[in-house]
Amino acid sequence: MNPKILIIGACGQIGTELTVKLRKLYGTENVIASDIRKLNTDVVNSGPFEVINALDFNQIEHLVEVHHITDIYLMAALLSATAEKNPAFAWDLNMNSLFHVLNLAKSKKIKKIFWPSSIAVFGPTTPKENTPQYTIMEPSTVYGISKQAGERWCEYYHNIYGVDVRSIRYPGLISWSTPPGGGTTDYAVDIFHKAIADKKYECFLSAETKMPMMYMDDAIDATINIMKAPVEEIKIHSSYNLAAMSFTPTEIAAEIKKHIPEFEITYNPDFRQKIADSWPASIDDSDARKDWNWNYKFDLESMTKDMLEHLS
Ligand code: SER
Repeated sequence: MNPKILIIGACGQIGTELTVKLRKLYGTENVIASDIRKLNTDVVNSGPFEVINALDFNQIEHLVEVHHITDIYLMAALLSATAEKNPAFAWDLNMNSLFHVLNLAKSKKIKKIFWPSSIAVFGPTTPKENTPQYTIMEPSTVYGISKQAGERWCEYYHNIYGVDVRSIRYPGLISWSTPPGGGTTDYAVDIFHKAIADKKYECFLSAETKMPMMYMDDAIDATINIMKAPVEEIKIHSSYNLAAMSFTPTEIAAEIKKHIPEFEITYNPDFRQKIADSWPASIDDSDARKDWNWNYKFDLESMTKDMLEHLS
């Protein structure tokens, strides 16, 4: 039987592509998209859509009951750069929306949850290269603190109440169809738009800032595959490390130059440099590979080619 899905935050960077893919997979009527506003016509017009506030438990519970929801994908959150500007609201949104959904599963109103975590759970004291699944985690951003606390709560709800919650630590995500919203890794999307429009880009991170990244197609596949995996394959109930590529601004600029030879990059680091410096440069994702057969398709070269083809 198909799951009956509610996506909260369906108009965001991940939510948009996730909605489209889940509708193809499980049927339009089985995927209820929701967001705080009708922000994205592709999502709003392609199937059932509801306006809800992720902080309002009663609204979420009402949708779950009316639509007989089995699975919730909670994609609403404030990302790293935006969260630093509004710490109290970021904490409120990122934590309480998660509690609402965990509590619905605890009381057996839904069966399964997807909740995204992030490389932001790591901090300046974490080993930077090939960051292990289990390691020192002292996040120094509001966003990272909220994701790390969220991971602990996911594992707690699994251990104590038997809640089936599945999670991935996404690296920076790159997509052509939807703009990112307020992250530190967003430069790797902006750079393509500016390369095509202006043939130049001023980067808000320094030239050698290496960060883990992933193409959206791979991130969506990972999300759907971890949710489809038989429950006994899921061994980690906090969140899985996930990796595809790692590169610096210099390296992505060089890759773009292969297609747009006139392209020039300059550097003017801002407050986001400190956030980037506190995060890993590369990630060890061997547990996800072993437990539920994770693998990626896109590397820097194929991702760059695909981005430029779609945006040109
Ligand atoms: N891409 C996110 C950010 O930069 C990390 O999860 O905030």
